[in-house]
Amino acid sequence: MTQNVIPGEDFSRRFRNALGMFATGITVVSTRTPAGAPIGLTVNSFNSVSLDPPLIVWSLAKELPSRDLFEGCEYYAINVLAEDQTELSQRFASRAGARFAGLEIDEGVGGVPLLRGCCARFVCRNSVRHEGGDHLVFISEVLSFDYAERAPLLYFGGAYRRLMS
Ligand SMILES: Cc1cc2nc3c(=O)[nH]c(=O)nc-3n(C[C@H](O)[C@H](O)[C@H](O)COP(=O)(O)O)c2cc1C
Repeated sequence: MTQNVIPGEDFSRRFRNALGMFATGITVVSTRTPAGAPIGLTVNSFNSVSLDPPLIVWSLAKELPSRDLFEGCEYYAINVLAEDQTELSQRFASRAGARFAGLEIDEGVGGVPLLRGCCARFVCRNSVRHEGGDHLVFISEVLSFDYAERAPLLYFGGAYRRLMS
C-alpha cells in the first residue's frame, strides 16, 4: 500500500524505510591510518558517477570516529561484497572487535587493504568531498580495479538478500 508521509508524522523513521526500498549492493570501504593500521566500514551508499574520468561516490556519517581518518587519507578502496560475505558486512558494521583480525588481504596503491573473495575492488584517490547534511560525500577517481563473476550480496528493506537469477 502507498504511504504518503509529511513532516511531523514520524518522518525520520519512515524516510529511512522509504530509502530502504532502493535495493543496493554492499561494500566495505577500507584504508590505512597514518600509523599503518587497516581500517574499514560497511557502506551501501556507493554508486557510479562518471565513466570518463572514472568517478565513484559514497557517503560517510560525520559522527563516526573514523571520519577524520577517511577524510585525511590519500587512497582508499571500495570492496564490493559477494553473496557469501554477509559475515564481513556485519563485522565491518559492528563496534566490537578488530575488524581485520584473521583476514587475508591484498594491497593496492598506497598499501590500501583489499579484501579477498569480492565481486569487485576499486582503488580510489581521495580528492573531492562535499558536505551533505549529516554525511560527508566522497567523489573519487578510480585508479585501478579488478572484478570477478561472483554473485553479489544485496541489501533491501533493511535485510540482506540474494539474486534470484
Ligand atoms: C548495510 C549497511 C550499510 C551501511 N552504509 C553506510 C554508509 O553508506 N555510510 C556510513 O557512514 N555508514 C554506513 N553504515 C554504518 C557503518 O558501517 C557503521 O556505522 C560503521 O561500521 C561504524 O564504523 P566506525 O565506528 O569504525 O567509524 C552501514 C551499515 C550497514 C549494516
